[in-house]
Amino acid sequence: MKGLVLSGGTGSRLRPITFSMAKQLVPVANKPILFYGLGDLAEAGVTDVAIIIAPQTGDEIRHAVGDGSRFGLNIEYVVQAEPLGLAHALKTALPFIDGDDVLMYLGDNLVKHGVADVVADFESDRPNCQILLTEVEDPTQFGVAELSSGGEVERLVEKPSNPRSNLALVGVYLFDQTVAEAVNAIEPSARGELEITDAIQYLVTTGRRVRPSLVTGWWKDTGRKEDLLHANVLVLSDLDGRLDGEVVGGEVRGNVQLGAGSQLVDCSVTGPVAIGRNARLVRTTVGPNTAIGDDCRLVDARVESSIILNGSEIHGWSLRDSLVGRGSSLRGGAPANYAEVTLGERCEVVGE
Ligand code: G1P
Repeated sequence: MKGLVLSGGTGSRLRPITFSMAKQLVPVANKPILFYGLGDLAEAGVTDVAIIIAPQTGDEIRHAVGDGSRFGLNIEYVVQAEPLGLAHALKTALPFIDGDDVLMYLGDNLVKHGVADVVADFESDRPNCQILLTEVEDPTQFGVAELSSGGEVERLVEKPSNPRSNLALVGVYLFDQTVAEAVNAIEPSARGELEITDAIQYLVTTGRRVRPSLVTGWWKDTGRKEDLLHANVLVLSDLDGRLDGEVVGGEVRGNVQLGAGSQLVDCSVTGPVAIGRNARLVRTTVGPNTAIGDDCRLVDARVESSIILNGSEIHGWSLRDSLVGRGSSLRGGAPANYAEVTLGERCEVVGE
């Protein structure tokens, strides 16, 4: 089985962070989202992987991931020249798939239990397609599956305005070689894209066997800031504490990761919290549910339920539910209470 990881797209719902970085490289618990998916493929034994990249962000992804050897994968890159849909991405990669089975994984998705079980299921049961489903509160945001009373897939609809089920399609799909026929047969949707949902519907309509399986454990599409912060909470809740840096005074409670070369001076840290390498925090209160990247400087600050990217500086501010891009700074007179901010890369906020 080949692996196909989709890492194109503009990340418009995650702006301003994605004005200057690929959405799949935004970190959750200090690790790029994409790396979780690559780890899942390696764990499932799917080692020949193509990453679909866009011309705009492809170089950044190539640079971050490389040839895949550090994940135990052989990775090649396929450029999708225009964002014409998930089925179009798969169509672009047909020469790479070369008639093999394929597992397609959306690079901005996180699946708690990985994909090893579903790969094993597919290989033993040999349906034409296997989809993963999970119940969601707002199905209008997703591809939605309607099942018969016997649990067979009857219909799939992409982002329906009047959903007839609350079962969303998770961004992990397995196909045998019939997918080539499907992606070649479908037409662009109303939004001008070749939808993977329509390709699977084609398989249903033409009598192929599409097997649904319910996801156990959480699943997250990290398309928006709220989802990203929630994903951060979910991943951090499984964190093992490990202090490689130095703690001078103050206190550290719960599961806390402190990277090598980092220093906490008179801080109060309540896990789960991940702090990267070479960060320095002084008289700062952190956590819970917070990730602070490498090389950050925080002085007299409070940060909870937030993601702070590498190289940011916070002096005197209290942040909650915030997302701070690389190399940004907040300083000067801060609001008395917690502030919620969303900052891109190298932004400056100076209070009076
Ligand atoms: C895509 C698919 C959708 C699926 C979702 C999962 O939507 O089109 O069917 O439910 O991924 O993350 P997108 O997030 O690209 O809007």
